[in-house]
Amino acid sequence: MNKIRYHRRKYTQGHTPIERLERLSKELGGPSISIKRDDMLGLTAGGNKTRKLEYLVAEAIEQGADTLITCGAVQSNHCRLTLAAAVREGLHCQLVLSAPETGDYQPQASGNHLLFHLLGAEKIEVIPAEADLLAAMEELAESLRKQGRKPYLIPVGGSNEVGSLGYMACAEEIEQQAWETTTPYDYVVTATGSGGTQAGLIVGFMARQSNTKVIGINVSRDRAAQEAKVMGLLRSTAARIGLQGDIRAEAVLCDDRFVGPGYAIPTDGMIEAVRLVARTEGILLDPVYTGKGMAGLIGLIREGHFTKSDHVLFLHTGGSPALYTVPQLFLP
Ligand SMILES: Cc1ncc(COP(=O)(O)O)c(C=O)c1O
Repeated sequence: MNKIRYHRRKYTQGHTPIERLERLSKELGGPSISIKRDDMLGLTAGGNKTRKLEYLVAEAIEQGADTLITCGAVQSNHCRLTLAAAVREGLHCQLVLSAPETGDYQPQASGNHLLFHLLGAEKIEVIPAEADLLAAMEELAESLRKQGRKPYLIPVGGSNEVGSLGYMACAEEIEQQAWETTTPYDYVVTATGSGGTQAGLIVGFMARQSNTKVIGINVSRDRAAQEAKVMGLLRSTAARIGLQGDIRAEAVLCDDRFVGPGYAIPTDGMIEAVRLVARTEGILLDPVYTGKGMAGLIGLIREGHFTKSDHVLFLHTGGSPALYTVPQLFLP
């Protein structure tokens, strides 16, 4: 008997579509590009955190939690989706937000921040950029425990060995779709931040003994720091599911050349990528994650990283609410 058991909630019906981006592929004169539409996942406005939350919230419910506590940036997609999952499950949700490094937190900010209010977060605490998010979450949790409540803490981006299972399941889904369409993917390209998406995908492909390589395009850290982060999560997720065998360093590839000056700071490449995908395929990316991820894919194509016969799958991890916070980047 397999002693490993997983609890999972289900927030999306069926699989997210994989679409061929024929016009974009032609425009770039490169490999065959497809897109996995995880922006169409369930819960408010979709995005990659929905998959992680299926496992995290299941664990919270299993432990008898009545409140989810999580943290992130002021425009955190992860906070929006954790709150949406709480609403769906009839749980409370408290958020700790890290103020922008410039220090100018705007209480009237739109995008995800607006949705935190609309979806009814029980508490929103904004702390300085350099302050410790985990300690702030622990403080909220302690005060709830004193009231006899049961909080469940979810780390930044939902990235731990439980959340990563969501992307292990996604790799499984991609393999099934590839099998049905007889199009195995040579590469999956994804934006990588807190690392759970990339780590989960790699574990999932390893478990299937698939040859698909995962390329992470960094949105914040440098290459060495991001690869170490993803590798740590990869090892803990693999251990959790009892995956045997060596994990080689080459399994983790993170490219830091498209981050620009820093997290959430716009780059010309991001603006070009968001515009190009909108105008060739009618698909909206976002300025913080998928815009830079696609800028990375375009950059890799232009430098000849892929052959023309390669099949490349870009993972659309969501995030479009943040697009509406930066109209100045896209208005004429
Ligand atoms: C839209 C979007 N894409 C990609 C990512 C990065 O995923 P991960 O944190 O699992 O590396 C995030 C994380 O917040 C996100 O919100």
